[in-house]
Amino acid sequence: MDEVSNPYSPGAGTPPPELAGREPLRHRVAVAIARIRLGRSAKSLLMVGLRGVGKTVLLDQLRLDAEAAGVQTIRMEAPERLSLPALLAPQLRLALLRLNRTQAASELAQRALRALAGFAKGLKLKYNDIEVGLDFEPEPGLADNGDLAGDLSSLFEQVGLAARSADTAVVIFLDEMQYLAQDQFAALIAALHRCAQDRLPVTLVGAGLPQLRALAGNAKSYAERLFEFPTVGALDRTEAELAIVKPAREQGAEFTPDAVDEILTQTHGYPYFLQEWGKHSWAIAKRSPIDRDDVLRASSDAIAELDENFFRVRFDRLTPTEKRYLRGMAQLGAGPHRSGDIAVVLGRSVQALAPVRQSLIVKGMVWSPSHGDTAFTVPLFDGFMKRIMPNV
Ligand SMILES: Nc1ncnc2c1ncn2[C@@H]1O[C@H](COP(=O)(O)OP(=O)(O)OP(=O)(O)O)[C@@H](O)[C@H]1O
Ligand SMILES: [Mg+2]
Repeated sequence: MDEVSNPYSPGAGTPPPELAGREPLRHRVAVAIARIRLGRSAKSLLMVGLRGVGKTVLLDQLRLDAEAAGVQTIRMEAPERLSLPALLAPQLRLALLRLNRTQAASELAQRALRALAGFAKGLKLKYNDIEVGLDFEPEPGLADNGDLAGDLSSLFEQVGLAARSADTAVVIFLDEMQYLAQDQFAALIAALHRCAQDRLPVTLVGAGLPQLRALAGNAKSYAERLFEFPTVGALDRTEAELAIVKPAREQGAEFTPDAVDEILTQTHGYPYFLQEWGKHSWAIAKRSPIDRDDVLRASSDAIAELDENFFRVRFDRLTPTEKRYLRGMAQLGAGPHRSGDIAVVLGRSVQALAPVRQSLIVKGMVWSPSHGDTAFTVPLFDGFMKRIMPNV
């Protein structure tokens, strides 16, 4: 059908035509932010989920929701290279400059900008990637000790005081949190903890792979008390159907019920795959309603495109040994799998394979749902590994 009006949008961070099934989480986050803004207690929410389930687009939507409610927001992605202070400082500066324009907050916003200047100066030696415009002179003794945890706490405190005087909150939206270095994650948790204790309106809404939960706990033992970890997962039947049917309907087209069933079977309700199947079924169909035959014919195109993009970008970052490990896992099916079983498939000992497994965890390719278990972070990756490497 008409290519121009094809509504589906597969792609990393590409907003879907219909953000299905995320209302409850949007509501939860809105309530938490509203409470924090009023100086009431609420846990920070760190959303965890596999690759392609829609964490990034949800985080973007949550940010829009927060801004519509009059909250100051900061949006960042934890990079694999840049340090957290380098990432945070310029963004905080912008938020503080905006607060500075509010009459009631300007004095405290300026003090917070002084704290930011001290923060950048104090940490410059340790994190030489910090680049931030300085609008005010540092105030000696304010967030300038050169110790990240302490200085970040003092800085957040000043930010919170400024936000409070403007009757707003500052909310940090942080994606790919599993890539934060442990000491920096610990400092962030400590600073948020300080704000929570003082009931200051600064909070975090984060997203990352499922290993985030364990990483937070390892960084600070009290993380469990400060954070909630809602899961962002595959869509259930009704939600997945909505994600497919509604965008088509808005363009005046329909899917037959068994076409929808076929898409749900093929995609298991994973958002990225739903977009891919929607797009290719639309493209291949000659007319509405799109039927099961169209979907079946579209499947090979959808799989080919996933193989070339979604799966491929992950695969290309792996060493040959890592690839072999994942191929061994794939042999056993979707998983999770016991380390011992993977070792048997590969004809090696668990011990010998431990470093490969660890490097795959750091790269975010696999995670450990429970002790000794290993699972893919990319849905349906087992099938891809078998296609790209036919032999173990
Ligand atoms: N709730 C939803 N309903 C329908 N489609 C969705 C939904 N959420 C996300 N998508 C689609 O899924 C795809 C992946 O979304 P996104 O990039 O946000 O996933 P992610 O979890 O951040 O993945 P990654 O871990 O790889 O960064 C996009 O094409 C997006 O349009
Ligand atoms: Mg993402």
